[in-house]
Amino acid sequence: MAILVTGGAGYIGSVTIERLLARGEQVVVLDDLVRGHRCALPADIPFYQGKIGDRQLVARIAREHALESCIHFAALIEVGESVLDPARYFENNVGHGIELIGELIQAGLRRIVFSSTAAVYGDPEEIPITEQSRKWPKNPYGWSKLFMERVLDAYDTAYGMKFVALRYFNAAGATENRGEDHRPESHLVPNVLAAALGQQEGIRVFGNNYPTPDGTPIRDYIHVVDLADAHISALEHLRSGGHSDFLNLGTGSGNSVLEVIECAREVTGRDIPLRMQPPRAGDPARLIADPSRAKTQLGWRPAMSDLRTILRSAWDWRLRHPNGYAQG
Ligand SMILES: NC(=O)c1ccc[n+]([C@@H]2O[C@H](COP(=O)([O-])OP(=O)(O)OC[C@H]3O[C@@H](n4cnc5c(N)ncnc54)[C@H](O)[C@@H]3O)[C@@H](O)[C@H]2O)c1
Repeated sequence: MAILVTGGAGYIGSVTIERLLARGEQVVVLDDLVRGHRCALPADIPFYQGKIGDRQLVARIAREHALESCIHFAALIEVGESVLDPARYFENNVGHGIELIGELIQAGLRRIVFSSTAAVYGDPEEIPITEQSRKWPKNPYGWSKLFMERVLDAYDTAYGMKFVALRYFNAAGATENRGEDHRPESHLVPNVLAAALGQQEGIRVFGNNYPTPDGTPIRDYIHVVDLADAHISALEHLRSGGHSDFLNLGTGSGNSVLEVIECAREVTGRDIPLRMQPPRAGDPARLIADPSRAKTQLGWRPAMSDLRTILRSAWDWRLRHPNGYAQG
């Protein structure tokens, strides 16, 4: 029996596959490679290049492999891009997502772990953010994820599709062989490390007048390996008959932009010049998870998510792959 991993050639998907394979799980990957990297995956695993919305292809994969579950990472993830081109985001993340899940139900599959996001909460009314906190996304990307959560909830009620929607906070870090290489890259950690390597002129800091101790926004950074392991725990939860759920994945504490840059200076031993910019519209001052529900429901604990470990692992990967993954 195999797990279908959509978006498996991307950052979090490829690390999760590494952890699944290490446990002896069978994996099949579906990715259109619009944003992912084929070489982020072992050459010998079953790989289908195509859209999750291609029902014929999904049906073929289900025929060719005995699928027992799906981990659904595939999505476009750039907030700014989603504001400029919401149609592309809704078509890709929601339209394609509905086709995928519809075909999986058709094929008899009833277990799915879904990549959701802290962006479903928008500007939070309370910190830390619990799963019950108000959900009102500030951009089409966040809405596309919240809508897919609603789809999953309705499909559980109607068709018995059991799911765990994992709302990640800020993923960062790397394993020895797999790291973060988004193109375009909007995430702080890889951009700070690119600045440390002299690949870009310093790091832009958007606003230093937020109501936080050093004036820069605070985010809850979670090591990609801890995230990957939460997917495995969620899968085990569903395999043992567990109920559907929505769970925050974060550490419960946060670091400011300046703290991340300072820690990166220490880890890399390099100068990282700052370029102060005006604040970005819609950037909340603080996004910090209350992860206690994931802990009680899945028995999951972040084990590698202190900032230094995250940055050390990301830097080691960057030094080995200064230009990211090879293309093609
Ligand atoms: N990176 C983060 O900090 C973060 C935070 C919260 C949530 N998430 C969610 O986690 C998931 C993975 O994020 P990531 O950082 O690994 O992103 P990523 O861009 O590295 O990976 C996404 C993968 O999905 C593929 N893809 C996109 N649309 C597709 C489609 N229609 N059909 C087939 N393949 C498609 C891309 O080619 C890519 O390989 C996403 O769903 C994202 O929304 C990420």
